[in-house]
Amino acid sequence: MHQIHIAPMMGYTHRHFRYLMRRLCPEVLLYSEMVTTGALLHGDAKRHLDFDATEAPVVLQLGGYDPQSLARCARQGQDHGYAQINLNVGCPSSRVQEGGIGACLFKSPQLVASCVQAMVDAVSIPVTVKCRIGVDDHDTFEHLYNFCETMQRAGCQFVVVHARKAWLGGLNPKQNRTVPPLRYDVVEHLATKISLPVVLNGGIQCHEAIDQHLQLFPAVMIGRWACSDPIGFSQRFHQHPSRLPTATILDDYFAYVDRSLSRGERLSFLLQPLQALFHGQPGARSWRKSLNALTHRANESSGRSLSSFVEMTKRLPVDQFIQG
Ligand SMILES: Cc1cc2nc3c(=O)[nH]c(=O)nc-3n(C[C@H](O)[C@H](O)[C@H](O)COP(=O)(O)O)c2cc1C
Repeated sequence: MHQIHIAPMMGYTHRHFRYLMRRLCPEVLLYSEMVTTGALLHGDAKRHLDFDATEAPVVLQLGGYDPQSLARCARQGQDHGYAQINLNVGCPSSRVQEGGIGACLFKSPQLVASCVQAMVDAVSIPVTVKCRIGVDDHDTFEHLYNFCETMQRAGCQFVVVHARKAWLGGLNPKQNRTVPPLRYDVVEHLATKISLPVVLNGGIQCHEAIDQHLQLFPAVMIGRWACSDPIGFSQRFHQHPSRLPTATILDDYFAYVDRSLSRGERLSFLLQPLQALFHGQPGARSWRKSLNALTHRANESSGRSLSSFVEMTKRLPVDQFIQG
């Protein structure tokens, strides 16, 4: 199993972010944003599923509650080249709740087991589940243990556990990622009791914490830290044989931007993963300002050729930031 997973995050872990992160972190397991079964079965599935082969391995995270729909979507994911399928049982947003998916499913282990079983029967790649330690009044250790054991019996290969409970009624999604206290002790207890591998998620923000948790867990999942400080997060891969110098990675990314623009991708979306790149370094603000100005100028000049866009990216003050 990969020791480090970059969490699924709506609005962040789209294909462009993953393209960049794969180059910064050659050995992580990357996840898609959550894609609902409705979006895949009734929407533009190709747009949701397409990714660059060099991003691999990528896990497709699905949101759904209907076993047969999930099975069809899991098969689509496998056919598209995804390495694993992950079921979202942790998202607390009210829209997701209204659809009967995400964290509210934690209260119905048998239904989730039917979903997992249907996906396991439909694909040959691993099927996994991401959940919280508790949801509303379903927050005892017994419920968590029973939930995970039920997943294991259904064929789930590992669970990712966000070490916080979710309050579906009282807190919004952002509060549900900060207000309920982190309970690593609960996830540790689970990992010692169950033979199903447990991946720890929630609040990990430094390399020392990763190393400490890896003594107890086979893997850890990191979300916000990877987005807010990609270079700092990727430090541990600096010596990796396939980790290219940051300047080379940026050149490659700008060439990718150029190719993607000609496919009709939005520039602001393509530049988003670069925004936090030099987090904490002197001049990070002027980097962000340059990126924003670039987006603005490119938006204004719709007739401008793509090659002149690449010329503009070359004038970004990259050199003053590159350290590795
Ligand atoms: C902006 C944002 C979007 C998220 N979207 C998803 C999602 O689509 N699916 C999911 O399972 N979790 C989602 N999460 C939760 C993260 O995967 C992760 O569990 C959470 O942020 C805790 O990890 P962290 O403390 O390392 O950030 C999201 C989190 C954030 C901040």
